[in-house]
Amino acid sequence: MTEPAVPDTTRLAAASLAAGDPTGWFEQLYAEAGAGTAHVPWDVPRPSKLLAEWARDAAVTGAGRRALVVGCGLGRDAEFLAGLGFTTTAFDISATAVRTARERHPDSPVEYAVADLLDPPPQWRGGFDLVCESNNVQALPQPVRDRAIAHVGPLVAPGGTLLVLAAAATGTGTAGPPWPLTRAEIDAFAVPGLTPVRVDELVDADDPLIRRWRAEFRAAG
Ligand SMILES: C[S@@+](CC[C@H](N)C(=O)[O-])C[C@H]1O[C@@H](n2cnc3c(N)ncnc32)[C@H](O)[C@@H]1O
Repeated sequence: MTEPAVPDTTRLAAASLAAGDPTGWFEQLYAEAGAGTAHVPWDVPRPSKLLAEWARDAAVTGAGRRALVVGCGLGRDAEFLAGLGFTTTAFDISATAVRTARERHPDSPVEYAVADLLDPPPQWRGGFDLVCESNNVQALPQPVRDRAIAHVGPLVAPGGTLLVLAAAATGTGTAGPPWPLTRAEIDAFAVPGLTPVRVDELVDADDPLIRRWRAEFRAAG
């Protein structure tokens, strides 16, 4: 379908935020996309480039390890991690996104679930050797952003890894979403028990004006 002058994400997020509901627009976007009246910009048939490069460079293998994909959308990163051998759980706040992910990957070993990062299932606490947060917090403005960040780290198991991928704030703001993250917001993922391993600010391969964070944290073992 032809892309509208105002992205569907901008249109729906603006209405949702004006109504005091910072997360309601995701379900609306996926539902409209299912009806053919909206475009989901992150619906691409490949995993996050930064995730794939990180896994390749670190020779990551998942056999015997559990991964959690936060805000999994239509499953691209969850399927990638499952392909590396991780026992993978992936969740999203949008029931339509989760249903569509399951439909697209009928033979997948990934356990897809509807859940809210702002109130994650307590049994997930400390449960995952790898937690991947890619491009979700950047779609959540304040005041929910700080709460969302605080809920990610506690999901990592002792000795486990948290990988955070996000657009980086450059000071040249445009109407979101996304609303890129500052360095201080990246640092805030290091809740007690988590230590930064490395924080890279990378130039986007397709657009040198865009910068992206790739931050890796390790939980005390
Ligand atoms: C910008 S999209 C990115 C999706 C996916 N990570 C990707 O890169 O393909 C943000 C995703 O986060 C989900 N999301 C937003 N707020 C959430 C929350 N509080 N809990 C769980 N998922 C959430 C949205 O439904 C959406 O699928």
